[in-house]
Amino acid sequence: MIKSKDLLGIKELTSEEIYNILDAASNFKDVLKRDIKKVPPLRGKTVANLFFEPSTRTRTSFELAAKRLSADVINFSVPTSSVVKGETLMDTALTIRALGADLVVIRHASAGVPHFLSQIEDISVINAGDGTNEHPTQALLDLFTILSHKKKIKGLTVAIVGDISHSRVARSNIYALTKLGAKVRIICPPTLMPAEIGNLDIEIFDSMDKGLDNVDVIIMLRLQLERQSKGFFPSLEEYYNLYGLTTRRLALANKNTIVMHPGPMNRGVEIDSAVADGAQSVILEQVTNGLAVRMAVLYIYAGVKK
Ligand code: CP
Repeated sequence: MIKSKDLLGIKELTSEEIYNILDAASNFKDVLKRDIKKVPPLRGKTVANLFFEPSTRTRTSFELAAKRLSADVINFSVPTSSVVKGETLMDTALTIRALGADLVVIRHASAGVPHFLSQIEDISVINAGDGTNEHPTQALLDLFTILSHKKKIKGLTVAIVGDISHSRVARSNIYALTKLGAKVRIICPPTLMPAEIGNLDIEIFDSMDKGLDNVDVIIMLRLQLERQSKGFFPSLEEYYNLYGLTTRRLALANKNTIVMHPGPMNRGVEIDSAVADGAQSVILEQVTNGLAVRMAVLYIYAGVKK
């Protein structure tokens, strides 16, 4: 049973709470297979989407999840809001609350923004990605997708490959997978490996060929070109040559290995199109599962007593 009113990160969740959310998502996945995909549990509730960074998958799936649950939805657009006149983040959130929002879904370039807004007592804050800190619903939908293929998490070997330094997806997935008993391998250039990662219960590789040996799941990460402040590698071509997931490299894993990517992808940089669109790719399934997982998150956190 989840007690916190806010979903701030996977770090704060117990393994039991993670499974509570995944079980609810499984029920909502069944709802989404029906002819009529809309159910009433959030009728009368209001969900506000506050996205201060670009998003396709997370924003649209939270919006659709809220609508499938019969909630009213406010989609806050930063460029046309009073943020551009200098309104503070807290005043913006308090204004949204004054309009009656029950849940605020927030994405922001600064780590810790959801934690800051969680001081507001009578709304639930859902972290949709904060800087390089966490992206909890991405990790939850990744777990859901892995479970649907592998039927378990404990004992699996999962490789997370690429730009770990700038990746909130990597952090949330490391916390989630290790809590549930998977063995996590990080494969990345030493220049994209943050120092604090060494304290976590993971294996670290700087070679794709060694790191991919016998893994069950590969999670490729987007090279976050917009967050690169200095030259972490000589060129995109060099990065692709050393860390791109090609058909040859995928064959080093095994034929049942699934390939994941949170999106958006840089095709020809971290992943080849032949792999992204190939038989072992579950990348679009991740997107589909994101809807059921976000329905579960909204449903559960709307029900927590505030
Ligand atoms: N995976 C993910 O967060 O994608 P978007 O940036 O499109 O939401």
